Amino acid sequence: MAGNVCRSKVRLEGKTVLITGANTGIGKETALDMAHRGARVILACRDMTRARIAADEIRQKSGNGNVVVKKLDLASLQSVRDLAKDIQESEERLDILINNAGIMMCPKWQTKDGFEMQFGVNHLGHFLFTNCLLDLLKKSAPSRIVIVSSLAHEKGQIHFDDINLDKDYSPVKSYRQSKLANVLFGRELATRLQGTGVTVYSLHPGVIRTELGRHFFPNLALWKRIIAIPLAMLIKTPWEGAQTTIYCAVDESLANDSGLYYRQVHLHQIYDIHLNLLLICLSSLMTSAGIKLSIPLMDFGKLYSKEAMFE
Ligand SMILES: NC(=O)c1ccc[n+]([C@@H]2O[C@H](COP(=O)([O-])OP(=O)(O)OC[C@H]3O[C@@H](n4cnc5c(N)ncnc54)[C@H](OP(=O)(O)O)[C@@H]3O)[C@@H](O)[C@H]2O)c1
Repeated sequence: MAGNVCRSKVRLEGKTVLITGANTGIGKETALDMAHRGARVILACRDMTRARIAADEIRQKSGNGNVVVKKLDLASLQSVRDLAKDIQESEERLDILINNAGIMMCPKWQTKDGFEMQFGVNHLGHFLFTNCLLDLLKKSAPSRIVIVSSLAHEKGQIHFDDINLDKDYSPVKSYRQSKLANVLFGRELATRLQGTGVTVYSLHPGVIRTELGRHFFPNLALWKRIIAIPLAMLIKTPWEGAQTTIYCAVDESLANDSGLYYRQVHLHQIYDIHLNLLLICLSSLMTSAGIKLSIPLMDFGKLYSKEAMFE
């Protein structure tokens, strides 16, 4: 079950890597790997206490003192803008941006701006953050943007007529939508960044023993939790789960690829669907990211039909 391992020996001295949600799980393991490679590593986290503890551990294990923590709550567009401004003003370069943070199958919660929580955190927050940092990424080219999506995107649908799922919320439907949005955003971004030296990768990390199940696992029936305990021993460790992210972030063989989706440290092509542009337009409207729209604004509900599902 371990899957493959990133074998690249690339060193990252002089490079800066920013990872969202790096205080635990896959993000923390990815940050540790980047620190081992000699990068300046920025952990962008919402819980500063946990972030500082993680940074201390990473400095200690890697021997790299150049690990810093910054506040980022992806459920607040103001927090996203504040950190993006801080990074633009204080960092000379940004070589690798890893959009890793995520929330899965929570109850129907709202972000500070009133968006459905999973779409807001997993997609919209990262969408705005990435767009605000594009100039710095271009200035640092060749640079990379890595988006941690999920296999769950394959059953996803973008509900353009009810993007916050107000009419019919289900935790899994919302998670799938947000993870499909990750992949579509990656593809559209890659198209827009052609020729800039900034390349984009999205991925499924595998099934990994992390805190991601915190919102649904405790609510499972007792017998399901009992069955899940031995199964949990079979799934990937966070180190194993971080390998595809690390591969996309550093592997030399991917330098000229962009806009593709990876699984198990391998390319895993997805079907061609044409939702990218629609999603980007909608997301720019929702976050007022100031992205130049190349098609006129439309009634998304009418334009998008239910047949345009992923599979
Ligand atoms: N684990 C799996 O099996 C699996 C499978 C497929 C895809 N993924 C994807 O992998 C990524 C990492 O997940 P993980 O498994 O490492 O889960 P995790 O252990 O729960 O870590 C998630 C990270 O995201 C952060 N986060 C959540 N909401 C945030 C917000 N509003 N603002 C900023 N940070 C926030 C968390 O911070 P706090 O600690 O403060 O909550 C934590 O650092 C996610 O995008 C997930 O969808 C995981």
